[in-house]
Amino acid sequence: FPVERIRNFSIVAHIDHGKSTLADRLLEITGDFLQRVTSRCWINCRWRENEESLLNYEVSRSISACQGVLLIVDANQGIQAQTVANFYLAFEAQLTIIPVINKIDLKNADPERVEKQIEKVFDIPKEECIRISAKLGTNVDQVLQEVVKRIPPVDDLFKALVFDSTFDHYRGVVANIALFGGRVSRGDKIVSAHLGKSYEVNELGLLRPDEHPTETLYAGQVGYVIAGMKEVKEAQIGDTLYLHKQPVEALPGFKPAKSMVFAGMYPMDQSEYTALRSAVEKLMLNDSSVTVQKDSSLALGAGWRLGFLGLLHMEVFNQRLEQEYNASVIVTAPTVPYKAVLASAKLIKSRRAVQKNMFYIDEHRVMIKYIFPLNEIVVDFYDQLKSMSSGYASFDYEDAGYEAADLIKMDFLLNGRPVEELATIVHKDKAYSAGKAICERLKESIPRQMFEIAVQAAIGSKIIARETIKAYRKNVLAKCYGGDVTRKMKLLKKQAEGKKKLRRIGNIDVPKDAFINVLKRK
Ligand code: GTP
Repeated sequence: FPVERIRNFSIVAHIDHGKSTLADRLLEITGDFLQRVTSRCWINCRWRENEESLLNYEVSRSISACQGVLLIVDANQGIQAQTVANFYLAFEAQLTIIPVINKIDLKNADPERVEKQIEKVFDIPKEECIRISAKLGTNVDQVLQEVVKRIPPVDDLFKALVFDSTFDHYRGVVANIALFGGRVSRGDKIVSAHLGKSYEVNELGLLRPDEHPTETLYAGQVGYVIAGMKEVKEAQIGDTLYLHKQPVEALPGFKPAKSMVFAGMYPMDQSEYTALRSAVEKLMLNDSSVTVQKDSSLALGAGWRLGFLGLLHMEVFNQRLEQEYNASVIVTAPTVPYKAVLASAKLIKSRRAVQKNMFYIDEHRVMIKYIFPLNEIVVDFYDQLKSMSSGYASFDYEDAGYEAADLIKMDFLLNGRPVEELATIVHKDKAYSAGKAICERLKESIPRQMFEIAVQAAIGSKIIARETIKAYRKNVLAKCYGGDVTRKMKLLKKQAEGKKKLRRIGNIDVPKDAFINVLKRK
């Protein structure tokens, strides 16, 4: 294809505003010209376009492969938190932004109001908005026309963004790339901008979504390259590839993955340590954004301290460990190195937030920007915000750097023995209330046992709160009046399963989820 006919764009939107539906519709209209290329929904065509993937933290990456975005806004809901975040990402990358108002078929659709919001908040003339129904296909062809008309073509030096990379035992690193300039062929010498290392291309091809080897990939296409890279770190997500001796400016948006949330991870049983280590290592081969450091704890034994891009990333990683590797792990409460927020009223005061600004999107909706300590939002802020606002408030955040604060370390003891995984850093003004609340929650989370358990919160050597769990042993067979053996067996089995989820600390059985539960506020 002549480069001047190639367009790279991305579909971005607040959750549920209709990205996938529009992408499907575009595929239908353009038929063979478009190919859906990976499970992450990059879409490739004469006018390649891609869309935000399932995990939010990939938004900025996919945007950087484009010259323009379709900013989808729901005609009923209007501008939401992620609409604003996506707009700024695209704006800062100097991309052409085409506002698309979707779901105009809805009974409560109010495209006029949304156009006014767009004009007011983003300073885009309302005449530039395209009103569509992705569901019914209304005006979707107009979207394609405007993409060609408004978004500039790609340039002709080879320039590719690595958007994923996997490790294959036989072939080495397979880098998935989006070309948005020039072309690359088998035998070409390519350089990774991040490490400055050169490689010879051994194999390359299109992704649709399976690998289809070809001799050459052209701007606008999405494909894969294999070039003798030995570790996924050599093909980092977000890195730029260019031809040897034809350097290009690295694509905007390349930032080495930065861990935001850290958590300790330990095997349920130390005998599973080696198996878990190998599972973690395998998963990391496919996800270079996870950081790992060895760690050990008195109560939980040997384990690791893992860094993730966010809570969702951490959850997905844990789920994969459990589902793909059948691993049973204890994850300690996540902690964070830093943070910041964009949010909507309330609840916020109790979280040490400082309001930065407030902006009325229209008469019904306000956008408020706060600086929060990250540790105040990491566990349950989002759930609380959603439930307090009956689902109306939306939330997004970005890093605002570190700030000094008056913090102290608080320990928790079970029968006098400190439990490291529960140790937490709290603001001085909140130490007493937090200590008391966590002791109460521990009391609820830990089942009664054959002996009494003292639950204490301490700052240094000073005990500041205490709860007592009374002794008690549940006799599960008490209800089986002799006779029925199968019923007895069933109950015993149930009890045994219940036990599995417990973690022994000293002589006390602590349920696995207690570590997270105690941090959730009521
Ligand atoms: P995430 O990927 O989860 O962020 O969602 P998305 O932005 O891809 O939204 P998706 O396309 O999954 O659409 C969300 C919901 O809105 C689905 O139930 C769609 O059927 C519906 N939807 C999308 N477009 C339209 C439309 O034009 N009209 C109506 N009435 N519903 C639509």
